[in-house]
Amino acid sequence: MDKADKLSKITISLHWITAVVIMGLCAAGLYMTRAEAWALYPLHKSIGVLVFFIAILRVIWRIRNGWPAAAADYSHIERQMAKVIKWVLIIATLALPITGMLFSGASGHGFGIFGLVIVPSHHMPDNPAQVLAYSEFWAETGASLHQAAAYVLIAGIFLHLAGAFKHHFIDKDATLKRMLGK
Ligand code: HEM
Repeated sequence: MDKADKLSKITISLHWITAVVIMGLCAAGLYMTRAEAWALYPLHKSIGVLVFFIAILRVIWRIRNGWPAAAADYSHIERQMAKVIKWVLIIATLALPITGMLFSGASGHGFGIFGLVIVPSHHMPDNPAQVLAYSEFWAETGASLHQAAAYVLIAGIFLHLAGAFKHHFIDKDATLKRMLGK
């Protein structure tokens, strides 16, 4: 279990695995859509689906363990901001995979995990090179939500990083150190 001066190995491992993978997926997502790097799509989707399971594990862990207590005394406004950003990050890590799966599934492109098909592609019978949407409405809704959630997540990550650096370099407290296992 987490303590104010020492975080559990589970909290630290889940935090860093999620952080590295999600930042990688954001960078890959932004790049592949702009550069039309189609080869990256299956990789992005496979890792994105795996993140969904990690995100669920994190939620279960948070419910069982609660949020770690603050490492020092902060002003009311700072505590409120930290709380909002934590919620934004946890909701966005669930929303991104869900909306990605909705978009990819409904659009007919399909998705899976490294070759293990979860929703198959929906090819046009007379032109198999093209795909046909299972549902235009859900494909468009999923695409818009995935993009919006991605931008909210990226903003949340920057604010979270700003907070971590402020605690470390200005307040000189243990917030960052305890997440590094020190
Ligand atoms: C935590 C997990 C995920 C993150 C952080 C993430 C992040 C992103 C980002 C930043 C973009 C670029 C958005 C834009 O500027 O238009 C993107 C695009 C995309 N993502 Fe994800 N994604 C995740 C999970 C998934 C999953 C699970 C799928 C599908 C199974 C998926 C499918 C896609 C597709 C198909 C695009 C391209 C959209 C387009 O071409 O307009 N993503 N993702």
